[in-house]
Amino acid sequence: MALEDLFKKLVSHCKEYGYVFPSSEIYDGLSAVYDYGQYGVELKNNIRKYWWDSMVLLNRNIVGIDAAIFMHPTTWKASGHVDAFNDPLIDNRDSKKRYRADTLIEEHIEKIEEKVQKEIDKARAKFGDAFDEAKFRSTNQRVLSLQSKIDEIHARYSRAMKENNLAELRQIIIDNEIVCPISGTRNWTEVRQFNLMFSTEMGSTADGAIKVYLRPETAQGIFVNFLNVQKSGRMKVPFGIAQVGKAFRNEIVARQFLFRMREFEQMEMQYFVTPGTELEWYEYWKEKRMKWHLALGFGKENYRFHDHEKLAHYANAACDIEYKFPFGFKEVEGIHSRTDFDLKQHQIYSGKKMQYFDPDKNESYIPYVIETSIGLDRMFLHIISAAYHEEEIEKEDGTKDMRVVLRLPSCLAPVKLAVLPLIRKDGLPEIAEKIVEDLKFDFNCQYDDKDSIGRRYRRQDAIGTPYCITVDHQTLEDQTVTIRYRDSMEQERVPVAGLREIIAEKVSIRSLLKQL
Ligand code: GAP
Repeated sequence: MALEDLFKKLVSHCKEYGYVFPSSEIYDGLSAVYDYGQYGVELKNNIRKYWWDSMVLLNRNIVGIDAAIFMHPTTWKASGHVDAFNDPLIDNRDSKKRYRADTLIEEHIEKIEEKVQKEIDKARAKFGDAFDEAKFRSTNQRVLSLQSKIDEIHARYSRAMKENNLAELRQIIIDNEIVCPISGTRNWTEVRQFNLMFSTEMGSTADGAIKVYLRPETAQGIFVNFLNVQKSGRMKVPFGIAQVGKAFRNEIVARQFLFRMREFEQMEMQYFVTPGTELEWYEYWKEKRMKWHLALGFGKENYRFHDHEKLAHYANAACDIEYKFPFGFKEVEGIHSRTDFDLKQHQIYSGKKMQYFDPDKNESYIPYVIETSIGLDRMFLHIISAAYHEEEIEKEDGTKDMRVVLRLPSCLAPVKLAVLPLIRKDGLPEIAEKIVEDLKFDFNCQYDDKDSIGRRYRRQDAIGTPYCITVDHQTLEDQTVTIRYRDSMEQERVPVAGLREIIAEKVSIRSLLKQL
């Protein structure tokens, strides 16, 4: 199936099965804003817990906070967001659509890269095992010419971004004959900077109202509380502060479902270190965070690091962890060595010292910071797109059937087990209900007695329930039930009395955390 089709199916699956709905849908929705449904919220809570526990529970020197969304407006002047949190935008005069100039260029480069890949795939199919990709890349004329085009655009683009040269960004679009995907024309406006922060007014009287921003990142709530936490918790550098919370950005190109939203949640951790040791800690956190992703079991080959080419003025190293989404490798998490920029800026703008007294060195300094920053919604999209599978299966009568299954890691699945009486009589429903009543304190359980057992299994597969417990006539005789495994569809008989222990072992987040 084409990856685009797969993505469309995933979006409608999320809606049909109560994972994600468009916001205020009865009014035709609100662009790039989404609501989580009854299963979506459970999955999101579980991802959040996996992240939180991996930071706060497993590390004695990392603590959590929950700062307010509204912050004093000077915060955003100090952080640089008022002056520099911009995207370069360009409009097409014919379609009246607005685009990010950098995205148009990056997508153009990706299209050429796809052409290169097509040539490689064709040659691989032709030559089989004897195919040598490196040699092919360095000798095939078409690939060489496409690659030199990529290199040329890339060099111009990097320079323009570094120098903030908006005229040159436009010129690259013109020179490469990049057209508007809607109108198909090259009738472009100038490129302008567009600030991504949402603002509103706080206060009741017109005179007294002040302009405040909806935070575009959670990190600043951590920086301004750095000394509060350090002093009240008697923390010693190196130490970290973790936070999960909403962030808001007026994205110009908001699309690809949960990938780029206007209201989203971030999970950020700022790790305060002694100046001069930051690059060691940067490497440490890169490795730690990659391990966190790999423990989910979606395959090492689907992740990669991508070093930032254009470092923000305050960073001395930065990279992304990218996951292979249905629409290509894209960022899920950023790891940034932010130097002492933020604390220093807050010290200047607030006039309050943001220094730490180091008892070992007997001196005060502003710590350097390593930041790990991951989008909760983007991680949700990553997990659900990795988990979504369509499979052909054989029914009991030998005919073929299709099933959609969410192969979610058991510990993240919204519903851990469904208890199903084989038929709705002979006392089976009562036993099933009793099992649910007994296990509901430990796990998110469902009871279902409608439709055939096959259809009920399909429904549970579609929401990703890892275990289905079936109560049948044998249960009446020997107090055993069958447990059906979602991924293999195999079944085994187990005693009712052993269910809690068997399931607990399989669905605990502990099994993930132990791998870190
Ligand atoms: N404090 C650093 C910071 O905010 P960022 O790279 O702008 O860095 C970090 O954002 C992460 O937040 C990204 O890797 C992504 O997972 C998530 N994120 C950023 N913008 C987003 C958006 N519009 N929608 C969903 N997630 C977003």
